[in-house]
Amino acid sequence: MPAIVIIGAQWGDEGKGKATDLLASRIDYVVKFNGGNNAGHTVVIGDQKYALHLLPSGILSPGVIPVISNGVVIDIEVLFHELDALIARDVDVTKLLVSANAHVITHYHRTMDKVTERFLGKRQIGTTGRGIGPAYADKINRVGIRIQDLFDENILRQKVEGALHQKNHLLVKIYNRRAIAVDEIVDDLLGYAERLRPMVADTGLILNQALDAGKTVLFEGGQATMLDVDHGTYPFVTSSNSTSGGASTGSGVAPNRLDRVIGIVKAYTTRVGAGPFPTELHDESGEWLRARGFEFGTTTGRPRRTGWYDAPVARYSARINGVTDYVMTKLDVLTGLERIPVCVAYDVDGVRVDEVPVSQSDFHHAVPIYEEFPGWTEDITGVREFADLPKNAQDYVLAIERISGARISAIGVGPGRDAIVVRHDLIDG
Ligand code: GDP
Ligand code: IMO
Ligand code: MG
Repeated sequence: MPAIVIIGAQWGDEGKGKATDLLASRIDYVVKFNGGNNAGHTVVIGDQKYALHLLPSGILSPGVIPVISNGVVIDIEVLFHELDALIARDVDVTKLLVSANAHVITHYHRTMDKVTERFLGKRQIGTTGRGIGPAYADKINRVGIRIQDLFDENILRQKVEGALHQKNHLLVKIYNRRAIAVDEIVDDLLGYAERLRPMVADTGLILNQALDAGKTVLFEGGQATMLDVDHGTYPFVTSSNSTSGGASTGSGVAPNRLDRVIGIVKAYTTRVGAGPFPTELHDESGEWLRARGFEFGTTTGRPRRTGWYDAPVARYSARINGVTDYVMTKLDVLTGLERIPVCVAYDVDGVRVDEVPVSQSDFHHAVPIYEEFPGWTEDITGVREFADLPKNAQDYVLAIERISGARISAIGVGPGRDAIVVRHDLIDG
């Protein structure tokens, strides 16, 4: 099984970083294909904790070639910062490859992100403020700056002029900010070029050649299905395709080369930022989940919104992504609950709806219909075999598996690398 995609099946922070790390010792390449430093992946190895944003989590495993492919938007200052932090911890980052076609996030994207959010007022999306949306908007508007432009000063200057022309009118006349000088941006970007040069490559070609040679490639998605710009809860989404299709367009590896899609789901649900979230809890159960699961953003530190497991969302994700296997994380967080509610369908204005509604208003009005499962009190963090989980924990997983659209092949029982119960091998099983 040489090409494997990992995607988030809910609203992000499902534990994709941990799942990538789990497989990393068996893969040759790990590819970040969408998003940018809006992602935050926490990986715990022994007593060491790493927080990765722009770099794929697989970079922590020796021998793996990390790749940032064309679908990513790169804040180069952040990239170097993150690399330096890993170098200081003796992580080998010398093999990193960066696509010549990836787009660049610059100062004006970060500024636009902040001012546009402010202007949205109560319709705010609650972005991470990292310039992600404006950088993708420039890409789609065909005024983006790509990594390859940094190596031709003349071209770079023309492109920055083109990008700033309209933005400076907006910044000054609408948003009441100062104009940004072309020189400032050009000098800034040129300053990164020499350090970046040896990393820049035709990553699409390299990845296809690697697959031809029988290597194993893991595509690590950032964000999640419900944050996907096409399939998520638009407009409360990020600006990239974070579903499995994005692995293809975002890397130059054709869809028929992708062998396996691993969806990561939490045993409950969280969301950061604004937008619909039917199973959200506003009571002490929500507080309890946040405290027990330590649900605070890896990127912005914001408290995550919390709620029960939503099976229609999981089924939707299974369908949109072609999930072959689910990894269910954080089952240990539910330990101690007497009864565990699971959303099995919605009530939309008095009508039972079994799938995620296509209408945004219906999803906003969706009230969860719950089924309750008996909980367990035993500590499960040391369990490594499914049969050793308490009977009620096994039944919870099996019940969820029946209604979630794909088999649950592994179960997370703690943050550490080895805190996992594997039912089916994620690469060969
Ligand atoms: P990502 O963005 O999908 O990579 O996920 P994050 O790293 O933002 O958030 C997941 C958090 O849950 C991290 O702090 C992980 O260390 C932690 N985590 C992952 N799997 C498990 C698990 O099975 N149990 C517990 N208790 N924590 C987990
Ligand atoms: P990982 O990869 C959770 C959310 C933001 C906001 C919306 C748009 O760690 O799962 P953006 O800055 O992307 O324009 O913000 O998307 N968001 C995430 N939420 N996990 C993430 O990444 C996220 N990346 C973006 O909170 O609601
Ligand atoms: Mg995260």
